[in-house]
Amino acid sequence: MTHPALSTRFTDLVGVRYPIVQTGMGWVATPQLAAATSAAGGLGILAAATMTYDELATAIRDVRSRTDAPFGVNMRADQPDVANRIELLIREGVRVASFAMAPKQDLITRLHDGGVLVMPSIGAKRHAEKVAAWGVDAVLVQGGEGGGHTGAVPTSLLLPQVVDAVGADVPVVAAGGYFDGRGLVAALAYGATGIAMGTRFLLTSDSPVPQQVKELYLSKSVTDTVVTKQVDGVPHRVLRSELVETLEDASTPRRFAGAARNAMRFGKDAGLSWRDMVREGLAMRKTQELSWSQVMMAGNTPMLLRAAMVDGRVDLGVMASGQVVGVIDDLPSCADLIDRIIAEAEKVLTGLVG
Ligand SMILES: Cc1cc2nc3c(=O)[nH]c(=O)nc-3n(C[C@H](O)[C@H](O)[C@H](O)COP(=O)(O)O)c2cc1C
Repeated sequence: MTHPALSTRFTDLVGVRYPIVQTGMGWVATPQLAAATSAAGGLGILAAATMTYDELATAIRDVRSRTDAPFGVNMRADQPDVANRIELLIREGVRVASFAMAPKQDLITRLHDGGVLVMPSIGAKRHAEKVAAWGVDAVLVQGGEGGGHTGAVPTSLLLPQVVDAVGADVPVVAAGGYFDGRGLVAALAYGATGIAMGTRFLLTSDSPVPQQVKELYLSKSVTDTVVTKQVDGVPHRVLRSELVETLEDASTPRRFAGAARNAMRFGKDAGLSWRDMVREGLAMRKTQELSWSQVMMAGNTPMLLRAAMVDGRVDLGVMASGQVVGVIDDLPSCADLIDRIIAEAEKVLTGLVG
């Protein structure tokens, strides 16, 4: 039997065996990865921000064909077709809707009415307070050491702040820097109800990322990531690479021209019309207060991530990564990883008491 401390408000709410979440990472969190996580007792989350509506519909069915366990879908609340995507989640009985940026109240209400739990990711205490007031079911708190878009406050400070602010009302899931059972117990000690991991799940045998990209990640140390605004205008933690250094050095017009080219290519691949892209750009400008050049650069991110994560072009791509990359040195299956984390957490919990 699992140690009672590992059955939490989060596991009860979502109906998963273990308080471990695999987050929605663009191009990485495919049906294969999400299903492997969910089948192993965690909560796998599909990354849908980089999928078209039809791809998402196919991906949901793909996860279903692999496991009966609950899973989630990560979306962007400002995507032009977000309302249709939400209807899809409801129809398909998806358990959790995860959002990089919190959805507005009408979307939350619709998801609730349709029986889908809402779990936005937040990187600051005031955002946690805001979404808790909107009635979300859980919040995923990402500390600054986490991969992808990230804030400035480390998990060790942000997590207790958020637990104190909203933990009594809403279960908090901790992200940013987790990889093992000690981290899980530490997060629970801070008052979290589970942990979520991105980089650690990217580095599993179930992750679809090309082998040479995984090997590059495995070779990195804890100081080999950098937070840059030059990819898409907002702070983004990525592996330090020649491309990122070039972006950091390039003049604004050169960056803008490159970003515009990539945004157009991505729009075409993703089946977005110019109208959709302009609408999406306008939404991003409004919700994130970005300048037009930042909006163009934001269109760039999915292309740059895809170049590495799908095409294996470590020279051309941007590789989002948490600092935790520096303490990861193997590629277990999701099932082995989760079993190992739970076994270690149980040992730590027993050791603390005894
Ligand atoms: C390669 C990669 C892609 C990511 N893409 C997304 C995304 O599409 N949506 C999102 O909400 N978060 C995204 N993130 C952030 C993760 O979901 C997660 O919050 C973060 O990785 C946690 O920190 P960790 O890497 O230390 O585990 C991404 C992270 C990585 C490493």
